[in-house]
Amino acid sequence: MTVITFANTKGGAGKTTAVLLLATELARTGHRVTVLDADPQLWISHWFEISGSINNLSVISNVTMASLEGHIRENRSNTDCFIIDLPGTKSPLLTMALGISDHVLIPVQGSAMDARGAAEVLDHLAFLDLKMGRKIDHSVVLTRVNAMVSTRALLQVKTLLESRNVRVLNTPIAERAAFRDIFDHGGTIAALDCQKVSNVDKALENVRLFAAELLALLPARVVRSGRDFRFGRRAA
Ligand SMILES: Nc1ncnc2c1ncn2[C@@H]1O[C@H](COP(=O)(O)OP(=O)(O)O)[C@@H](O)[C@H]1O
Ligand SMILES: [Mg+2]
Repeated sequence: MTVITFANTKGGAGKTTAVLLLATELARTGHRVTVLDADPQLWISHWFEISGSINNLSVISNVTMASLEGHIRENRSNTDCFIIDLPGTKSPLLTMALGISDHVLIPVQGSAMDARGAAEVLDHLAFLDLKMGRKIDHSVVLTRVNAMVSTRALLQVKTLLESRNVRVLNTPIAERAAFRDIFDHGGTIAALDCQKVSNVDKALENVRLFAAELLALLPARVVRSGRDFRFGRRAA
């Protein structure tokens, strides 16, 4: 079992979109995924409601600080990967979610990087390391990258983050109609109608590369084995 949290204290950074993409891709490739929707705006929950059932995927709504750990305890025997979607605010819930994560993904828009929201998450992670000895692996994923963004601007963002020793995934999440429209259509990217939504195949390839890169960063056995290393015993 593994816990992945998407965090950036800035709203609109692309957290919820990236949660949806990773969750559907991991579910498609056979992982049992539970999304914990801790954003009161409930975007993922609304999407899931209109989606009908999706193999290997469930969503728990209205997750709060008080309920978060209980949801994980109750569902860990039937979940390979929990994905937490947080609101775009600084809160004790953020600290708690980071503290129980195996990997934290920080979405940052590649063009006008809002460094502050990402920096706040990095500060939280540094605090958890310093005060509690909890080292949590983390990466930045560039989001909403589009053809209009010059390679130079992107490179500057990557260089800046790397100079602070922050890992930046090689695969950015592109700006795509498919990634926006999926919230209206429901279901998965793969199920989108290619006649109505442009470049579904490119969108799918993007998601595949993103998920594969992240999976390679997780300890190999964690996602698939159902073994809970933190608590030191095998899930039922
Ligand atoms: N890769 C993308 N391609 C197209 N639109 C995107 C992409 N990522 C985010 N958006 C759009 O940007 C807005 C904010 O994204 P969202 O994922 O809700 O961010 P957050 O959860 O960080 O607030 C939404 O309208 C969403 O549809
Ligand atoms: Mg969101």
